[in-house]
Amino acid sequence: MMLPNPAISVGQCVVRYPETAPVFEEFGIDYCFRGERSVECACRENQIDSEYLLRRLEQQIESVDPNRRSRWSDATLAELCDTLEWEHEQLLHILLPEILAEAEDMSVEDGLKHSDWMLLEQLLVALQTSLESHFRQEESELFPAIREVEYSSSAPGQRCASAGKFCRALQDEHSHIGAQVKHIQKITSALDPVAVDCPKCRSLLDAINKLDRVLHQHLHKENNILFPRAVRMEMCSGSL
Ligand SMILES: [Fe+2]
Ligand SMILES: [Fe+2]
Repeated sequence: MMLPNPAISVGQCVVRYPETAPVFEEFGIDYCFRGERSVECACRENQIDSEYLLRRLEQQIESVDPNRRSRWSDATLAELCDTLEWEHEQLLHILLPEILAEAEDMSVEDGLKHSDWMLLEQLLVALQTSLESHFRQEESELFPAIREVEYSSSAPGQRCASAGKFCRALQDEHSHIGAQVKHIQKITSALDPVAVDCPKCRSLLDAINKLDRVLHQHLHKENNILFPRAVRMEMCSGSL
């Protein structure tokens, strides 16, 4: 088994060994929005001993039976698109509405300052608007183009070019969505400890953390697996 080395990118390390994601998260290394950095570079930026991190990654990898490791990089692009669409549904129609309902249910008596609540609600609604528009584009343009390329053997050039072009534009939107989530996390992490002890507030924060985890994994699959494969198809078609 080939273990990670300092030159592997953090994004590709998580693609190849999905079980390493919690290790990077524990060390505060972003493998989703800045997945192109090498392990060595990420360690330098975060002032982490790269040998120690590599040992931790190896331990994590060796704790998993290779025959039971499921990798999204082994799935077909159509399977990946199906899963991503299902996740859109979960994020937009289950997780976000739950969070907004919980936030609406909170009152000043629950310990959350009015100004914090107003800002949190504004940020959540802005995130919902961004995700609605972003997911709509992926479902109506990108995913159909990718499925068509994968299933069709005739004249792939134009369709491939269109998939690659969408990927680059959507990746920029991911960075914007990532910044919105970071802002929400910043507000919630700075909440008054009295408010955080309130059960309603605790439940809201847990729901926001869950949304962050699901969204992070979703964008990782797109940034580090789907988009690079779609762009490679475009390059193979010679349409660049
Ligand atoms: Fe998506
Ligand atoms: Fe996306």
